[in-house]
Amino acid sequence: SKGTYPFYMLKEIDEQPIVMRRLVKKYTNDRGEVELPKPLLAALKAADRLYIVAAGTSYHAGLVGKGLFEKLAGVPTEVHLASEFGYNQPLLSEKPLFIFLTQSGETADIRQVLVKVKAQGYPTLTITNVLSSTLAREADYQLGLYAGPEIAVASTKAYTAQVAVEALIAQGLGEAKNHREAEAFDVVHQLGLAAAGQQALIDQKDAIHDWATDLFSQSRNAFFIGRGTDYDVSLEAALKLKEISYVQAEGFAAGELKHGTIALIEQDTPVVAFISDPKTAAHTRSNADEIAARGAKVLRIATESQSSEEDQLVVDDIDPMLAPLLMIIPGQLLAYFTSFDRGYDVDRPRNLAKSVTVE
Ligand code: M6R
Repeated sequence: SKGTYPFYMLKEIDEQPIVMRRLVKKYTNDRGEVELPKPLLAALKAADRLYIVAAGTSYHAGLVGKGLFEKLAGVPTEVHLASEFGYNQPLLSEKPLFIFLTQSGETADIRQVLVKVKAQGYPTLTITNVLSSTLAREADYQLGLYAGPEIAVASTKAYTAQVAVEALIAQGLGEAKNHREAEAFDVVHQLGLAAAGQQALIDQKDAIHDWATDLFSQSRNAFFIGRGTDYDVSLEAALKLKEISYVQAEGFAAGELKHGTIALIEQDTPVVAFISDPKTAAHTRSNADEIAARGAKVLRIATESQSSEEDQLVVDDIDPMLAPLLMIIPGQLLAYFTSFDRGYDVDRPRNLAKSVTVE
């Protein structure tokens, strides 16, 4: 039940820190080491390339997973939209392993890919919130998201759970391969930082509500910008806003603005800039300044070590690979309050179903 919450979406946003802690318990032993099922670990070690196949929000979580698998486990990773992959299969490596990321485990676009790659004899892993689902049953291996039922059509806690599970698998695989980056990384500590940082953001709901009103109450369009994982977050934050508040929103790679998109900026165009990666923070900041100078209303969200006085929201520090676990929280809340203030049915946006069972 949603208890005292007006909508499931807000309850599900609030549950994210608990889900982070639960995943650490599920995937690690009491020495804090990641434990993956032995046959799955062997299949992952044997793969020369991972292919993540997903749709919507799960696809956005896959984009973050690419960085984790490549860096922590040293395995090249591609991310594909299920609806595109099935009918235009790219050239595959010699030993691919397929990862289907799906909250519901029932998405038809993903199932058609699973059927096709199984027929070609490739190993398959489904990561899902519903372990009794079709995609979990039909794959060779399955791992849970343990986020608890997600009722709101807009996916929130499943996204952060997917990113966390990808980090846990990447760390487990990287350690099994004695990959240096994995040995230097402490996924348990990082997910602890994520849980605490998420709570700190959730506690600033009222301020985020005010920004939602200020930025989006009068606008029909909006932009989200960032680089690296902040770009991945931009895509997801834009999808959230489109899906439940019907504002035309786009996520852009901040460095691409000058290659065309900046032409869209007008007086009072709302723009949210995510700034978490030390490698690119200064560049994204100057992109944000450029659009502010052209009249855009810019909300800057930065991690503590990258923050400056002009930032409206400061987020706890975390490894940039996992910054989406924090950065997406204001993205989710901005979308929630915009939809709520417009009087929409936040949990059941028009034209959408929770699981999309047709191609
Ligand atoms: O159940 P799945 O993760 O396979 O669903 C994929 C998409 O349909 C889903 O993420 C959709 O984009 C959400 N409504 C986004 O909030």
